Amino acid sequence: MGGAILAIDQGTTSSRAIVFGGDFQPVSVGQQEFPQHFLKSGWVEHNPEDIWTSTLAVCRDAIAKSGMAASEICAIGITNQRETTLVWDRLTGEPVYNAIVWQDRRTSAFCADLRARGLEATFAAKTGLLLDPYFSGTKLAWILDSVEGARARAEKGDLVFGTVDTWLIWKLTGGARHVTDATNASRTLIYNIRENAWDPELCELLGIPMSMLPEVLDSADDFGVCEESHFGARLSILGVAGDQQAATVGQACFEPGMVKSTYGTGCFALMNTGSDPVPSKNRMLTTIAYRLNGQTTYALEGSIFVAGAAVQWLRDGLGLIENASESQKLAEQADPNQDVYLVPAFVGLGAPYWDADARGALFGLSRATGPKEIARAVLQSVGFQTFDLLDAKKEDWKSDTETVLRVDGGMTISDWTMQFLADILGAPVDRPAVLETTALGAAWLAGSKAGVWPGQEEFAKSWKLEKRFEPKMDAATRDRLIAGWRDAVRRTRSDF
Ligand code: G3P
Repeated sequence: MGGAILAIDQGTTSSRAIVFGGDFQPVSVGQQEFPQHFLKSGWVEHNPEDIWTSTLAVCRDAIAKSGMAASEICAIGITNQRETTLVWDRLTGEPVYNAIVWQDRRTSAFCADLRARGLEATFAAKTGLLLDPYFSGTKLAWILDSVEGARARAEKGDLVFGTVDTWLIWKLTGGARHVTDATNASRTLIYNIRENAWDPELCELLGIPMSMLPEVLDSADDFGVCEESHFGARLSILGVAGDQQAATVGQACFEPGMVKSTYGTGCFALMNTGSDPVPSKNRMLTTIAYRLNGQTTYALEGSIFVAGAAVQWLRDGLGLIENASESQKLAEQADPNQDVYLVPAFVGLGAPYWDADARGALFGLSRATGPKEIARAVLQSVGFQTFDLLDAKKEDWKSDTETVLRVDGGMTISDWTMQFLADILGAPVDRPAVLETTALGAAWLAGSKAGVWPGQEEFAKSWKLEKRFEPKMDAATRDRLIAGWRDAVRRTRSDF
């Protein structure tokens, strides 16, 4: 068994493609950043053409660097930034508006209005989600209501909706397929995760014509064949999952109770809950982890909107560092006698607060505070936010065994940040040997469907630990820091 797989990871700030060998190891990588458009406070858009052209370029680059002919690639797996919403013309393929990115808050008032009408429980029961601008449904409604003529065209059946996976598959197959997978569908606010179907009542409430919606497939399924002109071979797309679900698969969190946390632009902790869609009492999300052979596995998810993006802000916004790795060096030298807190609510607060109108704040500044303390506050904010998620989750999922957190994503390279995370959680943190777990998850979905990679059990055995971080902080320090963080969050909330 074995065979090369091309994994596409279309993320929030960059598009990446990785060729994996039959031994599950990355062979070559292509990566391109693309422009972000911040038109107003809380608005984030991408040009759909940038998403497509950067993806095509990194795929070609990764294949060229692999030294393989495209025909030697057995299949393609796609993983993507989730919730980001696109609408395009069914005949011409022309987008009617930019992609509205998951971080975008423009539908905050619309969500508040739906909540005021007492509709949150209806949405939560069917979708496992909350009424927050994060999800696709209200963004799609905004496009229909705000782009001239869009609603009439949609009602005539001329427009289609898609998340980023759907858009890429459409482009790769030359418009032959309009499909998504169950994990991406589960983030739209109009997909019933219990019945595994688009929900007519929710579509009606949001004013979304159902003719716009893609067909929903399993996460390992036949998503279509790429036009030969793209890569010089007719490669099949056999795996698709939203990036956080793909990381759950790549981290081999196949057993109920297993948890992974990925530190990319944001941070997303998912816990496998097996065949049960466990509702949360603590404003966590219930979502589809993966659907294989028609069997749905669910997860509880905590979503934080800003993790790596805060380090990017240190670099691009404040100009305190030139590259991300310098943040750890600064943090290590910070004054231990200053407790400085950053609440990075740049685009509101996600789980468990769901406060779309909060904005970021720094607390505890004195004349002695400098770049080192601010860098430390940035890295610590990621640990504190993860603590909030796992703390909220505790009541939703009681377990006798100690939770070990499997981590991945760019920020996990920093030993300092991972040690602080273990300290503040008071629990071990496991960093795997392969940190490209998101792409690996997509590759496994495609590779197993192609029959060239092994099944779940054997794949899970290939997961290897690189380093375990054990908690070392004394309880008094931990309690003091957590109390300080809670106070900082309280003062950042929009109703404070
Ligand atoms: O839900 C948003 C998430 O899919 C974005 O992931 O990796 O771009 O932070 P990332």
